[in-house]
Formats: sequence, structure tokens, C-alpha cells
Amino acid sequence: MGKCPECEAWASFVEEFSQEISSNTRISPILNETMPCTIDNIQIDNSIRFFTGLDEFDRTLGGGLVKGSLVLLAGDPGIGKSTLLLQAAHGICNTDNKKLLYVSAEESTSQIKLRAQRLDVSSDTLYIYSQTNLEAIKHHISEIKPEILVIDSIQAIYSQNITSCAGSVSQIRECTNSLMEIAKSQDITIIIIGHVTKDGNIAGPKVLEHMVDTVIYFEGDRYKSYRLLRCMKNRFGNTNEVGVFNMSEFGLVEVTNPSEMFLNETEKSPTPGSVVIATSEGTRVLLVEIQALVGVSSYPSPRRVSNGIEYNRLLQILAVLEKRIGLNLSKQDVYVNVIGGIDVNEPAADLGVALAVATCARDVCVSEKTVIIGEIGLLGEIRNVNNLEKRIKEAEKLGFKRVIVPKQSSKFSEKYSLEIIEVQRLTDAICSCVGKKDNITSAI
Ligand code: TYD
Ligand code: MG
Repeated sequence: MGKCPECEAWASFVEEFSQEISSNTRISPILNETMPCTIDNIQIDNSIRFFTGLDEFDRTLGGGLVKGSLVLLAGDPGIGKSTLLLQAAHGICNTDNKKLLYVSAEESTSQIKLRAQRLDVSSDTLYIYSQTNLEAIKHHISEIKPEILVIDSIQAIYSQNITSCAGSVSQIRECTNSLMEIAKSQDITIIIIGHVTKDGNIAGPKVLEHMVDTVIYFEGDRYKSYRLLRCMKNRFGNTNEVGVFNMSEFGLVEVTNPSEMFLNETEKSPTPGSVVIATSEGTRVLLVEIQALVGVSSYPSPRRVSNGIEYNRLLQILAVLEKRIGLNLSKQDVYVNVIGGIDVNEPAADLGVALAVATCARDVCVSEKTVIIGEIGLLGEIRNVNNLEKRIKEAEKLGFKRVIVPKQSSKFSEKYSLEIIEVQRLTDAICSCVGKKDNITSAI
């Protein structure tokens, strides 16, 4: 059946086969070697993790790849998934001398070799195999016995046991299932590349994400060279971790100080409508610039455009500015943009957005070298954010002179060389950051 009569989704039917379970595959509980034991008595193997040689990748994975795990790397076409894994393969093979089998279902071996030459990838334990048939791949796994297997990509391989074409729901499910069995039974670490659909989901069933141990998204702006590696699910570590890379002529280069990169493009002298915020991504803090443009609208209902900030969040901030500060925006278009094309989806950016809009509307500047941190409540109060001291530290490291932060009930654990201004209300924040001489509240 092509279309489901119930939910109207196309190609969502999956063929199920009845399978006979032979009596000897049922393991009797007495013969099964794993037994319940107390948690204190479980021994862990220290060699369970190994590194890819790319620190940013290892960090995203929660401290390296875990032996016998199944990792899904998803991303838009052309974002650099194959490049990343080829570079990681080089690192794995050359630092730990591990055997790695790189199966490409999309490129021929000579195409991969060409790319490898450009990326300076070489190793005598790195096997490249161009194949789309899962049974053939399985055969070579048992021949080569690699410790790590890369599948590029899950949508392009197929199993003979299923009649539907490669990339269909049933094929993806069957192939992933088989691969998972291999990962768990032979203790092979498997990295699967997955494509992403237009709306940003991994093509194929949602079950794919449930089956694997770790899900990593590789994302970036089509017009920019940097790439973010973001962990969405991790059975062996912290999620929310990000790794930052720069796509260069010679492949991906790690970016160890991303704030510097994002702030590089910013205007050096203070400008109305420009503020710098500190956003926290997993264990690391990024300083990014937020810009706002406010102007008289020529439409009956003024436009609100946001790039990198959630649209509803922007509307809420504008509503608070109108009600609590008296900033009238009902006839003004408002545009907000996060520089660098990254998404800042955390409330700690609220105060920065509010100040960018307010300063642009009133044509005043936030004083030089200031970082703005804080969430705004509906009452116009500034609420606390997580990882505050980490954010302050990052601002200090990059040479900022002042931070505006939510009022703390306790003292900071360290002394900082920059001025820390604690604010309780939105009005205080505005007064303290635009300086005495162009007091924005009197301007309003
Ligand atoms: P690729 O890894 O093939 O993407 P994916 O596997 O996610 O589809 O990367 C392709 C893009 O990366 C391509 O558009 C060109 C760019 N690129 C570089 O800029 N420099 C390089 O050294 C390489 C190998 C690729
Ligand atoms: Mg590819």
C-alpha cells in the first residue's frame, strides 16, 4: 500500500516477516553467562574509549568514541560529513593503530582516494570499500575484522532480504538493526552517516534515533565556512556538547576559540542596535553579537523578523519592552539577527535582544566592551541564568571590560578583572549599560 489510509503518510508501510525461532537460539537462563550482580562489583575496562584525534569531535562524543557503540552522524548534503569521518579515520588509525573499514555507498574508491590526498589522509590500517549491498559488507567485516566501521550512508545501502528500494523505511530499519547486532556481538564501533530531510529531521524512521547510542548533527550556514557539531543524544556522556570546525581548502580545521571567530566580524566601535551576549552551549560558552534594526513600518501590521532567535521569544521581549519600559513599537518594524548565523535558543539571550532593540529604537549605544547576560521575566525582572561564572570568565578572557548580569544572592566564587554590574530590573539594565550621558529612559 502506497499511502496510509489512517495518517495519509506515503511509503510508511513496512513489511514484516514471520520468523521461526529455532530451539537452539533460545538460550536457557542457566547457560547464559551474564548474571545479575551488584553495582559495586562491576568492573569497567579503561580502554573502553578511544580518540579520533579531532578534539572537537571527541568532546562532542563525550570524551571519545565508546567501544561497541553505534553512532549516527546526520546532516545536510554537502555539509562535510564524509570529510569529517575521513579525517577522523586518519586520526583513529594513526594514533591507536586501529583497523578501520570505511564503507562508502556513495563514492567510488578512487573518488575517496582523491579526497584523501587533498586531506592528507593515509594509513595502512584504513580500508576503503565501495559497496551498497549489506550482505557483501557483512562478509568483508568478518574477513577484515575491523575495530571501527564507517557506513556512508545508511540511506544508500540495502539488504537483499527486503524487496523495497534503498532509502525506504523498511530498508533503513533492517540495515540499522543488522549493523547494531554486529556492533554489540563483535564489539565493533560503528559510525553511520544519515541524511537529513528538508525539515531537518533524519530521513527515515524516528526509530533510527532510538536504536543508536549517540546522535550527532553536523550543521552550518551554507554561505559560511564554519560548521557546528552538536550532540542530540548520548548514552555515554553529556548531550548539549558542541564542536566547532572551519571548512577550509584542506578539509575541516578545528576552531579552539569560537568566540574569537564569531566576534571577528563585529563592528569595533559601539553602534546603536549592537550588543554582545554570552551564550552557553553544553560545557562551553560562545560570545556572539546580536544586531537589531528598528524603523517606521509601511505596513498596516508592522513586521517582526528574527534570525537565530526564536520568533515567539522575540515577540515576548518586545511586549515586555512596550509594557515595562514604555517603548512604543506598535508602528515600527523590528529585525533581529544573530551574527554568524548560529541559533541562540536560550533565555539568557533575552536581555541582549531587548537592549539591541531598545538602543536602536532610541539611537544610543551600549557602552564599549560590554557583555550582556540575563533572562527577562514578564514583569520586567531580570532572572538568573545557568553557568553564569563560566560566561563571565569567557568575557574576561576575550578582553571585555564590563558584564551586565542578573542580581546574585551570593558572592562570586572568584575575583574577576572586569566590572560586574548586577541588575534586578530591565530599567536598571538599560540605565547602567548606556552610560549616564545618553540615558535611554529619559530619551523614552
Ligand atoms: P562532504 O564531506 O562530501 O559532504 P557530505 O558528505 O556531508 O555530503 O563535503 C562536501 C563539501 O565540502 C563540498 O561542497 C566541498 C567542501 N570541501 C571543502 O571545502 N574542502 C575540502 O577539503 C573538502 C574535502 C570538501
Ligand atoms: Mg558524503
